[in-house]
Amino acid sequence: MNKKGSWGIVGMGVMGASLSRNFAAHGYKLSLYNRYIKGKEEKVALKLARKYSFFEEDLAFESLEDFVNSIRKPRKLILMLPAGEAIDEILQNLKILLQKGDIIIDGGNSEFKDTERRASFLKENEIQFIGMGISGGQKGALEGPSLMIGGDRKAYETVKKDLNNIAAKDSKGNPCCSFLGSGGAGHYIKMVHNGIEYAEMQLLAEVFEILMTYFKLDFKLIQNVLESWQNSYSDGYLLRITSTILSYYDSEGSNFVSKILDKASNKGTGAWAAISGAVIGSPNSLMTAALHARYTSSMKSKRIEFSKTSNFTKKKSSISLKQLKKVYDLCRWINHHQGFDMINTACKEYNWKTELATVAQIWSEGSILKSKLMETLGTSFCNSSSIMKMETFQNSMNKSQKDWNSVINYSGGNLIPIPCISASWNYFLAMTQPFSNANLIQAQRDFFGAHGFVFIDQKENSLNHGPWNR
Ligand code: 6PG
Repeated sequence: MNKKGSWGIVGMGVMGASLSRNFAAHGYKLSLYNRYIKGKEEKVALKLARKYSFFEEDLAFESLEDFVNSIRKPRKLILMLPAGEAIDEILQNLKILLQKGDIIIDGGNSEFKDTERRASFLKENEIQFIGMGISGGQKGALEGPSLMIGGDRKAYETVKKDLNNIAAKDSKGNPCCSFLGSGGAGHYIKMVHNGIEYAEMQLLAEVFEILMTYFKLDFKLIQNVLESWQNSYSDGYLLRITSTILSYYDSEGSNFVSKILDKASNKGTGAWAAISGAVIGSPNSLMTAALHARYTSSMKSKRIEFSKTSNFTKKKSSISLKQLKKVYDLCRWINHHQGFDMINTACKEYNWKTELATVAQIWSEGSILKSKLMETLGTSFCNSSSIMKMETFQNSMNKSQKDWNSVINYSGGNLIPIPCISASWNYFLAMTQPFSNANLIQAQRDFFGAHGFVFIDQKENSLNHGPWNR
């Protein structure tokens, strides 16, 4: 075979096909591979190659060996497969077929510890491995995603130019693609991205429910409000798609969203993010609340059953749209604060040297999290490592007490659960309290378990016990 692909893409699902089209649109000759499963996945790569003239049919494969042999050396491959066993399986096979110096990139939402394990496995044969978080969904993969790279730095230098070419570009024209650290850093940061994403989505869902009671289910009015927020600091991809979604009606004039079953699914990254915050000791109550809101929603039959046991009644309370918007904006700041703080803590834990400004920059375009706020953070993190230390946030928060009270009272009065809004409020209160109630927790721990505590005027490493009569 004389013509060889400069990149090989494994997995022709929605994301793999879109990313392949993106590469091809930038002039790269590609080798495409999709597995063969009789009756289910047959000639998938070939069908894609036939559909788009920029692909070459004889570079579409169902044999992994032929596919590998069709890629120019040192070979560069991207796996676009679901996280989990599928990745391990293909790596077992690729390890035998590939050679020293070849590079494999996992572009899926893999668990970061898995990525580190796989890197060691491939290193035995001197195959380089990169864990790459990709954000932007199908459209992002096609038109320019946000790329979060972790793993082998030398391997990254080899593929940097090509990845920069296919990545989204920020408002200054810089690629939204960066090396974020060794090992599983790329996938870890994508996981935090998804945690923030869960909370951003849940905040919009809470706002939506508040607006539904406010406008007595008039979806057009709700959509108008969300659309008007796009001309402000609240603007972002998720806000935009939410108002677009609300503009859909069926042929009978029912709003489309109201026909969708109210049980939220997930693919796991939100749970990993919640767990990781707990493991490294970084409060991430918004993403955790958003995850649990999805779990609660999925218990539909129980919700129906328990709804019959509650005798709560709605109480009259008022709110202005301005107040709701203000609180929404502030919750988003707090959500981003927790996410970026988590990255900072993880960097210390796992010895990564990731710049928060870089993370915000590569999330400012292409990513599901792209927003005006993210663009601001790209600059603000150059001067401050913490959102809670940023003056814009502090000034805005300090003028908002009445707004929070209104939103919380209104939701309570209308029996609307607001897990993410209230998590923001509680986190802010707790983080701005010089004295907490944890002295009592320490006393309780010591009472039943003799775990010890530190007196106020002592050094942190001393340990004392109380005079308890157990
Ligand atoms: C992105 C998204 C995406 C996400 C899936 C599924 O940045 O493009 O984060 O990668 O993982 O949309 O997420 P769920 O857990 O909600 O299914």
